Amino acid sequence: MFARQWDFLTSVTDMANLPPAAGTEIAFAGRSNVGKSSLINALTGRKGLARTSSTPGRTQMLNFFVAPETPLTIVDMPGYGYAQAPKELVEAWTNLVFSYLRGRPNLRRVILLIDSRHGIKKNDLEAMELLDKAAVVYQVVLTKADKIKPPALVRLIDETKAASAKRVAAHPEIIATSSEKNRGVDELRAELCNLATQ
Ligand code: GTP
Ligand code: MG
Repeated sequence: MFARQWDFLTSVTDMANLPPAAGTEIAFAGRSNVGKSSLINALTGRKGLARTSSTPGRTQMLNFFVAPETPLTIVDMPGYGYAQAPKELVEAWTNLVFSYLRGRPNLRRVILLIDSRHGIKKNDLEAMELLDKAAVVYQVVLTKADKIKPPALVRLIDETKAASAKRVAAHPEIIATSSEKNRGVDELRAELCNLATQ
């Protein structure tokens, strides 16, 4: 069963301060404002656990969340592709995210979030490339599914599936979610649960 109680463990801004690599880590990655923090809150059932904002660039550190009764750690990451922040800051976050994705030994899967309204963009492809090279399994999860009409969502799921099938390390299954409408959240919970018990 997916843990019911989740707590904040720590936030880090550099690789030297990562918590010890223990248990199964699942990281949420994606463009700024895609809905990473909101989806973590929906999954854990704790609204304010990960900070969300309508202004892109809200999450600026790697934030670790743990459930005492399971070996699962969830990591909320700064988004990439946020043009408005100072350049050096964006570079620092992107470097941190990419170093973490490349070098974390207990990182079991990356949940790569794609906004249903935008589909896969150039910087998402760059993230996929990096994960393919690092041989880290990632799974595309569509966010904000409430924002597009059902036929467009069906098309997007098909297109995203086809795009994932061409990649080396992509998990073939696509999950469409809406944190707002609590859609696809149970499905994603089940997926993460499986990873923790395997
Ligand atoms: P950064 O930390 O800046 O990278 O953003 P993030 O990916 O963590 O996004 P966050 O969860 O903060 O959400 C960004 C905005 O999208 C907020 O205004 C959320 O309310 C909104 N949002 C997130 N998920 C959904 C969803 O499922 N549906 C709708 N309609 N809006 C959503
Ligand atoms: Mg965030």
